[in-house]
Amino acid sequence: MIYPIVAYGASVLRKVASPIQPDYPKLDELIDSMWETMYASNGVGLAAPQVNLSIRLFVIDSVQIMEHLEEDEKHAYPGDEGMKEVFINAEILQLEGEEWPYNEGCLSIPKIREDVYRPEKVTLRYFDANFQENTKTFTGITARVILHEYDHIEGKLFIDYLKPLKKKLLQGKLNDISKGKWKVDYKMMLAK
Ligand code: NI
Repeated sequence: MIYPIVAYGASVLRKVASPIQPDYPKLDELIDSMWETMYASNGVGLAAPQVNLSIRLFVIDSVQIMEHLEEDEKHAYPGDEGMKEVFINAEILQLEGEEWPYNEGCLSIPKIREDVYRPEKVTLRYFDANFQENTKTFTGITARVILHEYDHIEGKLFIDYLKPLKKKLLQGKLNDISKGKWKVDYKMMLAK
């Protein structure tokens, strides 16, 4: 099932999401729907709050990004071949490396892209789609996408990192999005 994406302005995007148990109702179906929704909107990551569920679940597919990079661009991200993964109840254990900028966007905040600085490496403990516990370290674009999605389950958005002046300049566009004024080729919704 393809869910509509919750637009900026909804309180669900600002909540710290709750962990779930392995017996969460219809978890497999939910995960399938998260993938379906993400690909239908051409996203590389999607977090449950973006489909109006305040739970600690997100999916990422950075393989898509890596496949589209030129060989010389790939060299900028050693150790990262991209990854397709489900993250349940993720917790960041360690952040390492120098912060680097990347032009980020978000399905909940359409048509706005800005450079955001984030650390190079992240180590997380999380459960995968089979509720197997993993502790892994990610780098490059994959770490970038994970950190963006992880923020969603903490109630944070990439625009929170912008300098006040930049944010001020975007305020009109953000207000429009929160009022339902958007033009996108995927389904979006307003939530309280
Ligand atoms: Ni996002």
